[in-house]
Amino acid sequence: MSVNLSFLHDNETRPLCRDLLAKRAAWLLRRLVPAGKNVSVVLMGDRDMASYNSRYRQRQGPTNVLSFAADPAPGQPAIALTEHEIGDILISVDTAAREARNNNTTLHDRITELIIHGLLHLLGYDHERSEEEAWVMWDKEQELFRELKCYRSGTMAQLAINIDHVATVRQARGGAEPDPVIAAGICELAGALGIVVHLREDRRHIQDRDVRILRQTVKTKLNLEMAAVKEIILIALDLKPDMITLVPEKRRELTTEGGLDVIANENKVRKTIDKMSRAAIPVSLFIDPDQEQIKAARDVGATFVELHTGRYCDAGTEQEREREFNLIAESAETASGAGLRVNAGHGLDYRNTARIAALDTIEELSIGHAVISRAVQVGLDQAVREMLALVKPPFPAR
Ligand code: PXP
Repeated sequence: MSVNLSFLHDNETRPLCRDLLAKRAAWLLRRLVPAGKNVSVVLMGDRDMASYNSRYRQRQGPTNVLSFAADPAPGQPAIALTEHEIGDILISVDTAAREARNNNTTLHDRITELIIHGLLHLLGYDHERSEEEAWVMWDKEQELFRELKCYRSGTMAQLAINIDHVATVRQARGGAEPDPVIAAGICELAGALGIVVHLREDRRHIQDRDVRILRQTVKTKLNLEMAAVKEIILIALDLKPDMITLVPEKRRELTTEGGLDVIANENKVRKTIDKMSRAAIPVSLFIDPDQEQIKAARDVGATFVELHTGRYCDAGTEQEREREFNLIAESAETASGAGLRVNAGHGLDYRNTARIAALDTIEELSIGHAVISRAVQVGLDQAVREMLALVKPPFPAR
């Protein structure tokens, strides 16, 4: 049982993740078709689609999807196929892109819907025969799409906790507590699979001592966020965290604002990646969900990108949130298709995280402020009770 996914003409202007589409098509085939059968999915532009539409259906102009069954109903077009093939599905990427824009969905999701539609036609469903059959087919399409989106091809997204703000509280008094090193241990015991710290040039929260000790104590994975500047690069090369994430850093910002401009900083980023590669330290680039930045990240040799989720989290309207979510979903797919590993983070909280975590190409979420803020809220009750027990002991003080 296999899916042959091909492009009639390579369509470089639309970055598509072949792997993701092939994986989804293979899942659908497994779900619907007996073992040993194959299907071909051919992606093309409007011009080629219009030509097939005219040749086989005598209709003018392009359409979104055409299916050609190996064993067609009388009067339906057929094309030469081997005995194991159930048929061919032709999809116009141009039409799918227009429909994705109109339906406010991602191009990959629209193409997936068209693969489902084409596959159901090959299996005998036909929305043109009667209204009742149209409803049956539509229901089946919805059911399959929902099931597919719940299925993750890899493992679940992992959670890494950014503990910078534990250090922010400590620095407010310049003392020793709360210690981010202890916080890191608690996060790991609670199930976090990574600890993230940002060693800023101005050392406003995390200190060199923290990173040094964390390097020895973190049992999961230590991800050092940093700017591509000499002083911090030397520290990273010396301490060898499990990975680094390059971020833009401005002195007066409250937190990281916007993603790294890999295109404008290509030379500096490439050199930093080269240095880290020689020390076997994988590099992630914190970038906005932007196709050009993804291409640049791939070209400079990054291992990961971390997609900036800030605009999605801060969106003021539902419409804006949808647009930002779709940008992240598409970027995650493109980056993964380009061979990059994909993380995401910034601004994620208890309301907006689940949707991002469900994207099946995202490996890890980096979350800080929301978790540390909640820790203050949910831990406050216990902290007050413990102090109260000292102020008013259960037995009379002598
Ligand atoms: N990822 C990066 C690159 C960041 O700079 C930050 C903030 O330090 C985060 C993730 C975590 O963001 P938040 O604290 O809003 O969860």
